[in-house]
Amino acid sequence: MEQLISLCKRRGFIFQGSEIYGGLAGTWDYGPLGSELKRNIQNAWWNMFITSREDMYGIDAAILMNQNVWKASGHVAGFSDPLVEDIVTQKRYRADHVLEEHNIDPKGMSIEMMSKAIADHKLKSIDGNAFGEVRTFNMMFQTNIGAIQDGTSVSYLRPETAQGMFVNFKNVVDSLHPKLPFGLGQIGKAFRNEIAPRDFVFRSREFEQMEIEYFVKEEDWQGRFADWMVAMYAWMDVVGIPRTKVHELEVAPEDLAHYSKRTMDFEFDFPFGRKELYGLAYRTNFDLNNHAAASTVPLYVVDDETSEKIVPHCIEPTFGLDRTILAVLASAYHEEGEGDDKRVVLKLKSNIAPYKVCVSPLLRNKPELVDKARALYSVMKKVFGNVTWDDNGNIGKRYRRQDEIGTPYCITVDFDTLADDTVTVRDRDTANQDRVAIADLENFLKEKFQ
Ligand code: GAP
Repeated sequence: MEQLISLCKRRGFIFQGSEIYGGLAGTWDYGPLGSELKRNIQNAWWNMFITSREDMYGIDAAILMNQNVWKASGHVAGFSDPLVEDIVTQKRYRADHVLEEHNIDPKGMSIEMMSKAIADHKLKSIDGNAFGEVRTFNMMFQTNIGAIQDGTSVSYLRPETAQGMFVNFKNVVDSLHPKLPFGLGQIGKAFRNEIAPRDFVFRSREFEQMEIEYFVKEEDWQGRFADWMVAMYAWMDVVGIPRTKVHELEVAPEDLAHYSKRTMDFEFDFPFGRKELYGLAYRTNFDLNNHAAASTVPLYVVDDETSEKIVPHCIEPTFGLDRTILAVLASAYHEEGEGDDKRVVLKLKSNIAPYKVCVSPLLRNKPELVDKARALYSVMKKVFGNVTWDDNGNIGKRYRRQDEIGTPYCITVDFDTLADDTVTVRDRDTANQDRVAIADLENFLKEKFQ
């Protein structure tokens, strides 16, 4: 994990948020390569789940919503984690994490049970002090809208993107008239005032989600739930998350979120342990019913066959974008060879790699090579978009640098190129080199990228 974090910083993938001011806990900034990787993943997700399907519609809702949204959704009353404080330093801990660290399973425990377990086992904080009582801590960031600060101006930074889709359900039904089953998908920021942000981008206070609310007839929910499980594994294949590192966890009834009747977590073997990557929940018609009751706006679709008004049930596949990035990077990170031959290589799938191709002249002080390589670079950029230029150091060093950031192919223009219009194409994973005519290069690479 330390090597991965160091590579992310050194090569411009991910930086600590507000770093020059000493940082801001639980925030991370994506650098030039990280933002390319992130965008490629977002685009792949949007393409797979929205654009290429007939039954899916994308939306992009505002982050700030009417406070009544969060009352109706149950978040104001129930979106909390168990908090416990060191009685001397007042440092805050997540009570369930404290128990887990002492090999006590907190699953299914109430706040009172956690307090008792901490007291019975005489658990101490990192500073060696006793803990106080466990209490609930609402994780939503609260703010006020406009100049007047009173109860009516309260709003929250959304803790999940999901509600933006439930609240726009009627707008989509009225404007596009979709038939069941259909879904809404959204990619966007979510905010949670995590008591203990940790493990790099795994648990942060500002993060991004890619979520789907898929509306079905109640009697169909089990079949659709199973279909979405298959689709979620197919997605993991698209971004290169190996199935062997993913494990299903059926969430126990007593641990289900307040809206869920069934949840399947997909856990991943992160470098710091097996932890939740994605979730698939059966949210019933909890959200639509609650919003209809609270807003007094009926939320339903009319059944084609029976003309009946139906409040559809909802299957929710949810994908943390930052956790996807972490799982992808951890899976791609390889160290190979020994001593001087040692190389770090990010074996990213070419569809998400920040750069698809790197173009270099063999020597930077030979104008005829540089001109030829520059011309090829422009063409490659037009064709593949994410193409980089590197003329620093010797060719071996350039290959190492590109390996480390996951560039699948390096093209080198050398003296033979001037004679016969061929270039060397070097493969990141095998380190094999092919001699390819410039005229064939586009097709050669397109075939490799399939
Ligand atoms: N709409 C359902 C929902 O929000 P969740 O399990 O609380 O469910 C969904 O969150 C996904 O968001 C998680 O599976 C995880 O990938 C990601 N996620 C949740 N909290 C996070 C955090 N603090 N930092 C980074 N990602 C987080």
